Formats: sequence, C-alpha cells, structure tokens
Amino acid sequence: MTNYLLLLCTLSALTLTAQQTHTAFTPADEVWTDTDGNHINAHGGGILLDGDTYYWFGEHKVAGSGGNKAMVGVGVYSSTDLYNWKNEGIALKMLEDTSSMLQVGSVVERPKVIYNDSSGKYVMWFHHELKGQGYKAALVGTATADRVTGPYTYHTSVRINPGVHPRNLPHWRLRALGVLLDQAEEEKLGHKELGEIGAFSLRDHERGQMSRDMTLFKDDDGTAYHITSSEENQTLLVSRLSDDYLTLTDEYYRVLPGERNEAPAIFKQDGRYYMISSGLTGWAPNPARSAVADSLFGPWTDLGNPVRGSEEETETTFHSQSTYILPVAGQPDAFIFLADRWKPKNPIDGAYIWLPLEFEEGKPVLRWRDRWDLGVFAGGVGE
Ligand code: DGJ
Repeated sequence: MTNYLLLLCTLSALTLTAQQTHTAFTPADEVWTDTDGNHINAHGGGILLDGDTYYWFGEHKVAGSGGNKAMVGVGVYSSTDLYNWKNEGIALKMLEDTSSMLQVGSVVERPKVIYNDSSGKYVMWFHHELKGQGYKAALVGTATADRVTGPYTYHTSVRINPGVHPRNLPHWRLRALGVLLDQAEEEKLGHKELGEIGAFSLRDHERGQMSRDMTLFKDDDGTAYHITSSEENQTLLVSRLSDDYLTLTDEYYRVLPGERNEAPAIFKQDGRYYMISSGLTGWAPNPARSAVADSLFGPWTDLGNPVRGSEEETETTFHSQSTYILPVAGQPDAFIFLADRWKPKNPIDGAYIWLPLEFEEGKPVLRWRDRWDLGVFAGGVGE
C-alpha cells in the first residue's frame, strides 16, 4: 500500500512537471501559466533581454471590474526560452502612502524597462494616471533599480516637455496656428482636426504634453526614445531620452498628427523603423495599423493593417491590442508581436496574443496561429 501511494505521488509529480513545461506559444489558450502553474499576470507588457535571460514586465491586474487599477504594481517574470516564465515577483510596488502619486489605486499601464549601459541602472517608464482622476492626468512615471527584477525605486510622474515646442511645430508657426485656432472655433472643428493642426500641443505648452499609451525604444547606438499617445490621443510624440534615460530631452517631434494612434510598438529591421499601433476604442479591439520610417522622428509612411485573415481578425486584430515587438536574440529578422486581449469585466483574465511577424512586400504581416514555436523563424517568415 505504501509503495502504491509512493508510486501515485511520483506519477502525479511527474504529470505536474510535464504540465508546467511549455514548448510552444499558444495564442489559442486563454490562460498562459507560469512555472508554478499560475496564470501569468503581466498585461500591457514589455520584454528586456538581460544576458541570456528575458524579463517580461507587465501590469499586475486584480479580479473584478476595478481590476485595471494598480493595486499591487508591476510584475516581472523571467525566461531563457520564451515559453516558460518564472514569476520573479513585483518589480515596482504601489505605495500605501496616500501622499504619493504612486499610491495604491492609481493607474499604471504599459511598463517598459531598458538598461542604461553607462549608469548600470535598469530604468522603467510607464503610463501613470492619478488615483480618482480617471485618465485626465496623462502622466509618464519613471523608476530605477540596480537589479533587473527590482525592487524599482519610484522617481516621479510628469507631463512631458513643458514649455518646449515640438521640433516640427516650432515657435514661429504659433502665430499661424493662432489664426487656425480662431478659425477652428468658428468652424467648431472636432478633436481629429484640432489634433491635426496642433491645437492641443499649443493648449498644453506651458503645463506639458499629455502622455498615455507609451513604449520605449533603445536603438543600436544606445540612444533611447519615448513614443507616446499625446494631445488627447490624437497624435503621437516621439522624444529622445537623456543619456541616463531618466528624463526626456527637448528633442521631440509630433508624429502622424490627428491619426489617433494608441498602443505603439516599435522594431527596427535593416536600418528602418517599423511601428504597429491601434486605433482608439478604449478596451475594445480595433484594426491594427502599421507604418515605416527612416527615423523615429518621422516622416512615417502608412503601411496599412498588418493583419491577414478573416474579416473578424482584421477588424479586431485577433481581439487584441499591440503592446510590444520583441526581437528574438541571435535570430536576425525574427520578431514576436505581443498583444493583449483585454477583459475589462475581469481584467486579471486578460490573455496574451503572441504571433510571429512575417514580411510581405516590405510590410510587416500578422497571421493567426493557434500554436507555434521559434522554429517558424528558421524556415523564414517572409522575405
Ligand atoms: C486602451 C489602452 O491601450 C490601454 O492601455 C488602456 O489605457 C485603455 N485604453 C483604457 O481604456
């Protein structure tokens, strides 16, 4: 009997181990488990390769309709194969201190971490909204750590570039803009048109520009950039970070004005920059967009919807929204598109849609796969 029990225990332990080892990405599965068998909780995420280990940072959501509020912080997971993720805990903790901007119950979204080679610091940037203020504050927050998994020390949350004009909407154009704004008032222009002409840039000039959905991009030469949905989400702003990555420089540009892009995700291939983003429909999915540029500051050329598939897939981006594009280490031209399938009624249930990026006629292309592995890149996914 004792031997029988022992055998049973060994068998169930073996089954458990087998269950926890993943050998593929499974976008068809709504629940992705970590190495402990728990649903991975890292939404709106970004990934940093540090040595030979990938670190996945993301929003830690909680159950219930209030679960999009940051009650816990930014979670981090590690992996050496991209399939099996170990929970490394909470990298940036929300603070109990009610006088802090980072207090429990504020909104922390789309955290991204890059490593600064000179300072040796890991630098996290995230979209931050203040507690009880909805999405009005439109701030970007920063935090740093000496170890990749943290703990991250919170620095501050700010509007961006106060008192500084975008390089492509310089001071001398303000007079003309003033005229346009008078006209806009007469013609009662909508948000999109106001976005196109730069009205919100002018409105927020003193206080600083809004920053909502955001990402970071660290270029080959170590220069890093902040790309964010600004001006009432009508226009993206691309700013160069300071050398220590802790602040933005004055060098920033308005990109795709009035095009209403959210969820920007960037990658670089053959010296050109590509962006996949979404439209503006809150938590509901919409058709993705793609664009290419020779400089992150633009001009960006529209490449259309990257999704190939059924009407439902192209209209909803497989019921998901972009968050990051990961270059696979050691495999040139291998990029993974990371997206979130939001579940606003119970945000903790949000699912992860990871797909290989393919290229067709110079355009990034996404196709649904129930299950796939890194072997797809060996065969080449497109030109
Ligand atoms: C869509 C954004 O991409 C998300 O990160 C989040 O801000 C929601 N909107 C809020 O409605």
